[in-house]
Amino acid sequence: MKKIAGEKAVEWIEDGMIVGLGTGSTVKFTIEKLGELVQNGLNIQGIPSSVKTKRLAQKLGIPLIELTNEIIIDVTIDGADEVDSNLYLIKGGGGALLREKIIAYHSKKEIIVVDESKIVKALGIGFPLPVEVTKFGWSATKKAIEGLGCTAELRKIMDEVYLTDNANYLLDCDFDHIEAVS
Ligand code: A5P
Repeated sequence: MKKIAGEKAVEWIEDGMIVGLGTGSTVKFTIEKLGELVQNGLNIQGIPSSVKTKRLAQKLGIPLIELTNEIIIDVTIDGADEVDSNLYLIKGGGGALLREKIIAYHSKKEIIVVDESKIVKALGIGFPLPVEVTKFGWSATKKAIEGLGCTAELRKIMDEVYLTDNANYLLDCDFDHIEAVS
């Protein structure tokens, strides 16, 4: 399902576009398909949302550019961890949320590719909300976020504190469920 959804998204990409490249196991199929199209002559420039995506795009020969003040991204294709009926999302399970959100902000169109396992009645029941925080004062930030009604856990991988591509920490915030998004 991820492959079908991921590959379908390339239908929105046209020659000459600047394309935001998301992160994750779903959008990986999109990027691989784009790589194939680029090998067959499609002319696009990509802006990757993570080091992992950058490496994949480079390997596939997709030309990459930096996000600067002159750039307007035509379309970004990205995944999500949960989607509700209002199309609100939880993103960042893969740890790339800050760059993904900056790229989304500068994009004319954002296409989110998900399989049906991501569609939920209410956000946060099955997935904690990832929040990227600076190392500076992280435990004070954790306490402040917990004041909003969640239990926040510092993400660790094999007992090592997880570091984002921006050298920040991640708090996985279990809200039980998220009632209002504003
Ligand atoms: C990366 O930080 C995330 O926002 C991903 O887009 C999200 O976690 C979906 O990833 P999968 O496609 O691997 O489920």
